[in-house]
Amino acid sequence: MSATDRQPTSTDAALEAHLQATAAERLVDYQAFLRFPSIGALPAHDADVRRCATWLASALTSSGLEHAEVSETGGHPVVYADWLHAPDAPTVIVYGHYDVQPVDPLDLWTSPPFEPVVVDGRMLARGAADDKGQIHAHLMAAAAMFATRGLLPLNVRYVFEGEEESSSAHLASWLEANRERLAADAVIISDTGFFEGDIPALTVSLRGLMYAQIDVVGPPIDLHSGSHGGVVQNPILALAQILAALKGPDGRVRVPGFYDDVVELSDDERAAMAALPFDEDAYQAAIGVLALVGEGGYTTLERRAARPTLDAHGIWGGFQGDGAKTIIPAHAHAKVSSRLVVDQDPAAIFEALRTFVLDIAPPGVAVTVTSLGLGRPSLTPTDLPVVRAAERALEAVFGRPPLHIREGGSIPVTASFESILGLPVVLMGFTQPHENAHAPNEWMALRNYEGAIRAIAATFDEIAADG
Ligand code: BES
Ligand code: MN
Ligand code: MN
Repeated sequence: MSATDRQPTSTDAALEAHLQATAAERLVDYQAFLRFPSIGALPAHDADVRRCATWLASALTSSGLEHAEVSETGGHPVVYADWLHAPDAPTVIVYGHYDVQPVDPLDLWTSPPFEPVVVDGRMLARGAADDKGQIHAHLMAAAAMFATRGLLPLNVRYVFEGEEESSSAHLASWLEANRERLAADAVIISDTGFFEGDIPALTVSLRGLMYAQIDVVGPPIDLHSGSHGGVVQNPILALAQILAALKGPDGRVRVPGFYDDVVELSDDERAAMAALPFDEDAYQAAIGVLALVGEGGYTTLERRAARPTLDAHGIWGGFQGDGAKTIIPAHAHAKVSSRLVVDQDPAAIFEALRTFVLDIAPPGVAVTVTSLGLGRPSLTPTDLPVVRAAERALEAVFGRPPLHIREGGSIPVTASFESILGLPVVLMGFTQPHENAHAPNEWMALRNYEGAIRAIAATFDEIAADG
């Protein structure tokens, strides 16, 4: 073990002692949070999402925060709370999400996704990392500060969303409607992670998202492929032609105009990415693929976070059973998405995709393209006092200064906080890479969870010290 692998420790001795004394009860509470199957995207779980929101509001109150409220959005509620008794100190908004991803394929979980267990120093459950573990660390940080000092060093407003995993459909209007009570100086979002190798990191850029479904409709009913084969368009093959045309063997997206607004990396940015301690072979082994492939002219790190993509997520149609069935299917479907970078506009990219798909659709089938979600990319300025406060805090707790990294994933609300509330955002997250977010056997390393609590408290102190 190197010096930087030591247990993360608070420099506040009383806080550290309190946290050590309360570690076991904290895990029980964390597990209670994880037991709610708050799968935001599945309507069958609407009541579970709401029960989870109610639990979270009372957990905020138990942690010493005030005005805890389950606030209606038109969709899944936002859970809000605040503590505003530091008159001369700044105010931060803390954002996280209590909704979680669906759990399928269920048979690959080694224990049930909503029955959290600690295995080998990891909390194992859906939401352990993304994002309930990080929300819970915020609650525990506040609770520990109240327990040891009776107050927080700054003012804080918590905004915990229930629709992040389904494109934050109602959050922008909720921010607009609550503009007044969201007066603040900065936003801390804890929904990202550390760099490869579990190195502390602040995320400085996130990609946006354009998600679409392509539906190809042929005959009104499946046709006998002997009687009619050779004279009608096959919807599955038409769909395959369309999908194959979206991306070239050079890894470039073929949708006209797709790259028009892409801001290229500067030489300095490329040099900074190249200087990150990234072991490409270890990364390839960790995700278990035969080869890393992508757009020519860019490194793996650049492709993964600073270049736009086009991917397919699902494809269905026709006969799926055992054996042979000779039909021309009535319809075929696919889900596709693009991760986007600054300054691509998700709505414009969707229109470009739709236009191109309709343009290249072969004759004899009806093709439609439907948007299933749009989110903006973001690029965070790094020369802000609040970023430096977070850097000092992470270094004090984890023993090394954080890297600045670009993440390939999306948190569309980041851009909303910037554009609607005009606030700078710090992306300070604590999960380990390869934590199986969105996959079976999601986990959060307890070392990172415990470190998160201490780093959040230290960040509050650093921000307050800055004034
Ligand atoms: N926490 C992730 C975002 C993330 C992923 C950050 C990877 C850093 C690295 C978030 O919960 C998420 O999964 N977002 C969705 C957004 C979508 C539903 C609009 C995503 O990225 O797919
Ligand atoms: Mn998340
Ligand atoms: Mn997620």
